[in-house]
Amino acid sequence: MNVSDTQIAYSIMQAAGYGRAEGVDDADVIFLNTCAIREHAEHKIWSRLGVLKAMKQSKEKSGGLVVGVLGCMAERLKEQILDQEKLVDVVAGPDAYRDLPRLVSKADEGQRVINTMLSQDETYADIAPVRVDDDGISAYVSIGRGCNQHCTYCIVPRTRGIERSRPAASIYEEIRELSRKGYKEVTLLGQNVNSYNDKSHLSGRGGVAGGDEHGLDAISDLELETSKMKELPLVKTAKGFRTVYRTPTAGITFSELIDNIAEIDPEMRIRFTSPHPKDFPDELLEIIRNRPNVCSAIHLPAQSGNSEVLERMRRGYTREAYIELVDRIRSIVGEDVTISSDFISGFCGETEEQHKDTVSLLERVKYDQAFMFAYSMRERTPAHRRYVDDVPEDVKRRRLAEVIDTFHANVKLRNEAQLGKRHLVLVEGNSKRSDKDLAGRNDGNKKVIFPNNPIPTLSQTLMHTNKDKLEMETTMAQQHAKPGEYVVVEVTGTTGISLTGRAIARTTLAEFHQSKLNGSL
Ligand code: 5AD
Ligand code: SF4
Repeated sequence: MNVSDTQIAYSIMQAAGYGRAEGVDDADVIFLNTCAIREHAEHKIWSRLGVLKAMKQSKEKSGGLVVGVLGCMAERLKEQILDQEKLVDVVAGPDAYRDLPRLVSKADEGQRVINTMLSQDETYADIAPVRVDDDGISAYVSIGRGCNQHCTYCIVPRTRGIERSRPAASIYEEIRELSRKGYKEVTLLGQNVNSYNDKSHLSGRGGVAGGDEHGLDAISDLELETSKMKELPLVKTAKGFRTVYRTPTAGITFSELIDNIAEIDPEMRIRFTSPHPKDFPDELLEIIRNRPNVCSAIHLPAQSGNSEVLERMRRGYTREAYIELVDRIRSIVGEDVTISSDFISGFCGETEEQHKDTVSLLERVKYDQAFMFAYSMRERTPAHRRYVDDVPEDVKRRRLAEVIDTFHANVKLRNEAQLGKRHLVLVEGNSKRSDKDLAGRNDGNKKVIFPNNPIPTLSQTLMHTNKDKLEMETTMAQQHAKPGEYVVVEVTGTTGISLTGRAIARTTLAEFHQSKLNGSL
């Protein structure tokens, strides 16, 4: 999310005449784009600011240095940052990036300035992100901002504001442009990506998704009551899940959006993050199954495996409903769909038994990827007002270690089940460990590493399968696969959470799926 926001901030600065510095040493302006989700994230920023102090002093004679703190930490702490760290000149929240050039020019005049206004409709839809640091293969596309869920432990609704959906037409246009430039993968981004609900074309206002605790329920819903659109259906959620607030009426939903995006370029993979489990209606699962380029990789943040803890977290589902959804995902999309999750260990009031329920959920589901954290109490969250952070730090750490160990033991089993299977891998480049190996990702977003040997195309391989091997070798034009190409890889081993394999052929996404369907692979 912050990579994507940085690309937006950079685009705004570029339009105002700023260029990219070669490195921190020759920069006139340095922005730190920050996260506030856990205390640790903020610690890192304070220590980075400490490092910048010396740099700022040394630049005093040569025109000076403007230092800005951007993003969620800026939004959370506001003036406190200016008070606490004198070297900071600019503080700008996640909805204030358009104001950056003005803020920087004020800072140039010696003022210390702040803009942490949150917006109801800012989606930066018209800002073309400047993708300075990406690989030209894989891009992030922001489709919405903010979150209306108000999970009790989470600061995000405070720092990023209410949900807004970027108008669909501008998303399609950005993805068409990425396709023209040769990108092979887009990851759709939003704090609550699958609650996307664009009604901007109906209400004539920027897209605000529906349902928040302050009665700011979908601006457009109020307007729509009186308009010709009042027969709109309600948003569909996963069975057994509920929205924390009133269920909004549906405009262009995530299912419709992703289905339309998939059609733009059948050779382009579509991923999305970060979703909420409630917004996985069957129709979305069917799209993931039916569209070869919509990746079968589902992030399904559980947070806890115990229903009472989930209730205290205000997640809107029980352990049972969650497990039922996992089973439905595997039965609709297929057993090989990868499922990942986030977990928090040591939330307020978590007992040993409740922690064990989380461990048993990890054993039951067998996740392919997991992001696991010790609970970090955040001020201004509902949990801070209501609960006591009563699990001692060492107990949190021990529980977290158990959760991590359980994840690793089970992902090993999942990966071993892939031995001998053929996966479609989008090549990213040389592997980090050896330039004799290539690395890429499979459909399920697992890293796959394989030797960089010359290989034929898939159509050549299939044409020759009935002829003898000698003829095959002499007639096939074998080539090394390049970054951005799709390769069929047979899995031969696993290393922790990644897979290793041997490359069989270069191919296309459509050809691979066709060959799977007709049984030739
Ligand atoms: N403490 C620890 N982890 C948290 N997360 C969100 N808030 C907190 C917190 N206060 C985790 C959740 C979320 C992920 C992005 O960060 O697991 O899904
Ligand atoms: Fe935070 Fe919950 Fe919103 Fe995710 S859904 S951003 S955890 S409030």
